[in-house]
Amino acid sequence: MKQEHNEEDQFYYPSKEIVRHANVKEYEALYRKSIEDREGFWAEEAKKLSWYKKWDKVLDDSEKPFYKWFTGGKINIVHNAIDRHLKSATRNKIAIIWEGEPGDHRTFSYFALNREVSKFANVLKSMGAKKGEVITIYMPQIPEIVIAMLACARIGAVHSVVYGGFSVESLAERIHDSQSRILITADGGYRRGKATHLKEIADEAMKRSATVEVCITVKRTGEACYMENDRDFWYHDLMAIPLECRDCTTEVMDAEDPLFILYTSGTTGKPKGLVHTHGGYSVYTAATMKYVFDIKPEDRWWCAADPGWVTGHSYLVYGPLINGATIMMYEGAPNHPFPNRWWQMIEKYGINILYTSPTAIRGLMRFGPSWAHRHDLSSLRLLGSVGEPINPEAWKWYHEVIGRGKCPIMDTWWQTETGGFMISPLPVMPLKPGSCAKPFFGNEIGIVDDHGNDTKQGDEGNLVIKNPWPGMARTILHDPKRYVEKYWEKYQDKGWYLAGDSARIDEDGYYWIIGRIDDVIKVSGYRLGSAEIESALVSHPAVAEAAAIGLPDDLRGNVIHTTVILREGFAASEKLAEELKNHVEHEIGPIARPAHLLFTDALPKTRSGKIMRRVIKARAQGLDAGDITTLEE
Ligand code: WT7
Repeated sequence: MKQEHNEEDQFYYPSKEIVRHANVKEYEALYRKSIEDREGFWAEEAKKLSWYKKWDKVLDDSEKPFYKWFTGGKINIVHNAIDRHLKSATRNKIAIIWEGEPGDHRTFSYFALNREVSKFANVLKSMGAKKGEVITIYMPQIPEIVIAMLACARIGAVHSVVYGGFSVESLAERIHDSQSRILITADGGYRRGKATHLKEIADEAMKRSATVEVCITVKRTGEACYMENDRDFWYHDLMAIPLECRDCTTEVMDAEDPLFILYTSGTTGKPKGLVHTHGGYSVYTAATMKYVFDIKPEDRWWCAADPGWVTGHSYLVYGPLINGATIMMYEGAPNHPFPNRWWQMIEKYGINILYTSPTAIRGLMRFGPSWAHRHDLSSLRLLGSVGEPINPEAWKWYHEVIGRGKCPIMDTWWQTETGGFMISPLPVMPLKPGSCAKPFFGNEIGIVDDHGNDTKQGDEGNLVIKNPWPGMARTILHDPKRYVEKYWEKYQDKGWYLAGDSARIDEDGYYWIIGRIDDVIKVSGYRLGSAEIESALVSHPAVAEAAAIGLPDDLRGNVIHTTVILREGFAASEKLAEELKNHVEHEIGPIARPAHLLFTDALPKTRSGKIMRRVIKARAQGLDAGDITTLEE
C-alpha cells in the first residue's frame, strides 16, 4: 500500500499496513507521558532487559553534568545481546549474514556467534586482557570485527574501534590516547576490487605509538604481512589452540562501567574519546531501535554503516542483537562491481529494513533508477537515513525508487555523543522530506539563541537537549574538563547540552537540521575536524601554516578546501599540491583528502591569532565575508 502524499501540507501519511505493524501506534500521548515521568519511562524500558541485579536509582544527577543512570544495577551488554537469546529459540536464528565484496559469504547463528565470541574472549584473556583496559580494534567490515567488539565487552574490557578507512596518524593518536596494550587488526579488506593494507598501516602506527605489546591479525586478503616475534599473532592460530574451557563467562559489570570509547572530531585539538557505558547505553539503543525501526523477530535488518562509527556500534551491533534481530553486513562499496550491488543483496537476502546515509543515496541516484528496477525490492518495509541532512530530492528518490512509495523513511538525528537517536520520526508519523520530525521519547529539544531564548518559530538557532538521557556519553577519556567545556558550559545555568548543530522548528513542530555551527566538517557524512586536517598538513616539511574548511558539494555534502602557507625555500606547484593532498590521505585517511589546495602568503586571522575560517569560506564561495572588524591586517 502506497503512502498517501498531500502536496499542500507536504506530508506523506503512513499506510494502514504500517500502522497495523507498528510497535507504537500513537506518538503524542506516549511522548507527553515520557516527559512527565522521564525516569518512569526509562525504568520501564530498562525492565525489558536482563539485569544480574536491579538498579537502586534510575537517574543520579548529584554530579551534574556527569549524570549516572541505573546506579547500583549489575548488567553486561553481551548478556543481553547474546547470552539471554541462547535460552530461547533465538539460539538457532541467524544473527549475522555477511557478504564480502568479492562475493564470498558467511552466516552465524546466535549459537555460533556465542561460540566465536567465547573463544576469542578466552584468547584475549590468555593475552592478559583485564577488565577495564582499553583494546583498540582496527579492522575492515568482516564478521571478526563484531566478534572482537563483543569479546572485549564480555570480559569487561573497553573497546576502542578505529574506523578501517583511517590511516597512520589517526590510528597512532588513538592508540596513544587510550594507552592500548592490545591491538586487533586484519591484513586488509576489499574495497572497489582492491585489497587494502591495514596491517601495514598498523605497523607504522605501532612505531609511532609504542604502547602496543600484542597485535592480533585476522587473515582476510592473504597478502604477506610483517609479523614481529612475540608481538604479532594470527587470529586463526590463536583460535585454533585448544583451550581448557571453550566457554567464557560474561563478566558482571556495574551499569556505569565503561563499554567503549569512540573517538570523534571536534572543533579544536585532537579527537575526543567519548565514553559510553554498559547500562544506560544498552537500554537506550534497545528502545530506540525497537520503536523507531519497529524491529520484529522476523526482520532482516541492514545498517549499511561501518562498525567503526557510532552508527555501526549502536545499530549494526548492539541495538539489533539486543533485540534478537538478524543483521545484514556487507564488506565493500555499494557500486562494485555494478551500481546494483545493494539492490541485488536486498533481493537475495530478503532485507526488510535498510538504514543508510544521504551520501550513499545520492551516490546511487546518479546511476539512475534502472539499476534498482531490475531487482525485487518488495521485502523492504522501512528505510532510514543518518549522518547529515537529507535533501528532499534524494529523500523522494529513496522513497519512490527504493521504497516503491510504500516505505516510510526514518531520518534519525543523533551524534556519537548521544549514543542513539534523539530526533526521529516513528513509522506511524506523517513525514516531510528533509525533516527528522520530532524528539524521541524522554527528550526535550530546544532551538535557542545565544542567551537561551527560544528562537521565533521557523528561525534558525542552536540545538540544545534540555534533559539527560540514558545513552548519553559520560565524559571524554582523560579529559572531563573538556567534556564540560564543549557540551555544557554555554548553557551552564540552564543545564542544557549543546549539540553543535543549528536547526529550526516549523509550524507543525517538525525539526529541520541545518548543519554544524562549529568547525566540524561532514564529508560524505563522516565527521572530520578542521584542526586534524590542518595538523596533518603542518606535519609536512614544506608547510608553515594551513587552514581547512568545508565547502558545499552536491554528492558528498561537503568537500575539504585547504589553504596553505609554505615554509621558506619551498615553491608552490601543481606537483607539491598533489604531494600535500597525498600526505593528508596517508596521515588521516582517504576521506580526509582535500578536494582543493591553494597556496597563499597570509591567512585571515583575528587579533588574537585565530584563523577566521568563516572568512575563507565566504571568499571561496565568492560571498560577502560579513563582519570582519576583528580581522587583523
Ligand atoms: C553530526 C554527528 C549519529 C550517527 C552518524 C553521525 C549530523 C547526524 C543527522 C540527520 C541532519 C545529521 C549532525 C550531527 N547528523 N544525523 N539525520 N540529519 N544531520 O554521527 O559523526 O557524531 O556526527 O552529524 O550535524 O551533529 P557523528
